[in-house]
Amino acid sequence: MLKVLALRCGEKLDSQKFQKILSFLDEDIQKKILSFYKWQDAQRSLLGNFLVRVTLCEMFQVRNSDIKIVRSKLGKPYADNIPQVSFNIAHSGAWIVAVFDSLPVGIDIEKIKEIDLDMARKILDTDDFEEMMSLKESERPPYFYKCWTFNESYVKMQGKGMAIPLQSVKKLSNKAIFKTYPLDSNYVLSVCTISSKTTIGNKNNLIETKLKILAEAR
Ligand SMILES: CC(C)(COP(=O)(O)OP(=O)(O)OC[C@H]1O[C@@H](n2cnc3c(N)ncnc32)[C@H](O)[C@@H]1OP(=O)(O)O)[C@@H](O)C(=O)NCCC(=O)NCCS
Repeated sequence: MLKVLALRCGEKLDSQKFQKILSFLDEDIQKKILSFYKWQDAQRSLLGNFLVRVTLCEMFQVRNSDIKIVRSKLGKPYADNIPQVSFNIAHSGAWIVAVFDSLPVGIDIEKIKEIDLDMARKILDTDDFEEMMSLKESERPPYFYKCWTFNESYVKMQGKGMAIPLQSVKKLSNKAIFKTYPLDSNYVLSVCTISSKTTIGNKNNLIETKLKILAEAR
């Protein structure tokens, strides 16, 4: 069953909590997190990887120390010793989201902003771009971000990232299922999968409670 989790954390964590969560993660992702220039980027990556570990511990009744996350050459993370699950992470602004399924999945979240038309031409295929331009101005941003997050969730499901041009996704994705979730009116959250049953959970209070669970799980 496909599962989508969302965690909101716009405030800077205190350094003790940051270090504690960091210590639960694999060494390679720890290094990546510590190399970010902005604390917001470091924290989003920290919490995304934390959300995945916490959820895998719960779903498979395993200890955090038993989970080994590896990354493909293009950066897609997998749980090396839990091959029956596929997951994906995305972050934007204050939101960190993750999706889990037994089949390949991809997720994307974007904050709705004003549209840059040059950028939109690179992200949407011609039909979607024309459809967007035919809408009232106020309806264009939600439409644009829905198309963008669909396209990005597809390339993330495939594990290819930007190696697949986003405008080509519509032609390539005829077997994929896309879904958007009403998480926050300022953001668009979309998932791409090839299965159909879905639940959504919002783990706003996850940090405190899951820290405890992970500490006990070590
Ligand atoms: C995947 C990608 C589209 C994500 O872009 P983004 O909008 O900046 O970030 P998002 O918030 O949507 O997602 C970030 C998360 O996606 C996941 N991710 C990274 N690469 C991924 C890939 N190839 N496929 C699927 N998921 C990927 C990671 O979990 C990452 O978070 P983390 O690093 O904190 O663990 C982008 O990073 C990309 O194109 N990566 C491929 C890199 C590449 O082509 N490198 C060239 C050779 S090294």
